[in-house]
Amino acid sequence: MFSNTMRGMSRILQTLRRKCHTRHRKKPKFGTRFLLDKSKVFSFNAWDDVEWDEEQEKEAQIKVQANSEVRFPPNVIERYENEADKYWDAFYDVHTNRFFKDRHWLFTEFPELAVGDTESKKILEIGCGVGNTIHPLLQQSKNPDLFVYGCDFSAKAIEILKEAPEYDNSRCNAFVLDATQEVWEVPFEDNSIDIVVLIFVLSAINPLKYKMEQNRELLLVVFL
Ligand SMILES: C[S@@+](CC[C@H](N)C(=O)[O-])C[C@H]1O[C@@H](n2cnc3c(N)ncnc32)[C@H](O)[C@@H]1O
Repeated sequence: MFSNTMRGMSRILQTLRRKCHTRHRKKPKFGTRFLLDKSKVFSFNAWDDVEWDEEQEKEAQIKVQANSEVRFPPNVIERYENEADKYWDAFYDVHTNRFFKDRHWLFTEFPELAVGDTESKKILEIGCGVGNTIHPLLQQSKNPDLFVYGCDFSAKAIEILKEAPEYDNSRCNAFVLDATQEVWEVPFEDNSIDIVVLIFVLSAINPLKYKMEQNRELLLVVFL
């Protein structure tokens, strides 16, 4: 029974991917990009078939080693960890919405995010920052049944996001939340989200604080 449901889900996802692919993907997706013509090496910032030679591997190891040699004292590490939201506030105070721009790859890499005109979708972005993903999501689809929630533990980021002229609270709800907290206060019902997006967020969170929920039907879109 369960495996039938999973097979059904996987077929639906494949169809969805195919439909989105033709409608939104102009470029090959990461994972299918092979450098066959060396003159095109700069067409993308990453390729899938590049093998490192010994020399390059050694060079990388030396860099990683050098990088690991400088360590902060434990009390400083603890302070950065405990006050991480304040440091992100300070970051957004300086950069406002001028950082992490240019999302031309969003629908190329994640066609699932291009919501069709007749679909009803609720998307949650965790660590949404100032909305560099949320704004394109809402711009690409005028579907009134698309609703996007965005949370971030930086109150400053959420403030900037909400002050943007394109922020429309009939289609979007942004709120402050530390995703590593045990208890979440969120403005939506349990099990009501279709897609969860994390872009450049997991790399900002101490892996000891990761927690995995067992919800197989949820589509997760993650960029470290
Ligand atoms: C590198 S930025 C990326 C922002 C956004 N996802 C983007 O792509 O523009 C990482 C974001 O994660 C947020 N963040 C880090 N740890 C978090 C946590 N525990 N809970 C919620 N947000 C967090 C930061 O405030 C910051 O906005």
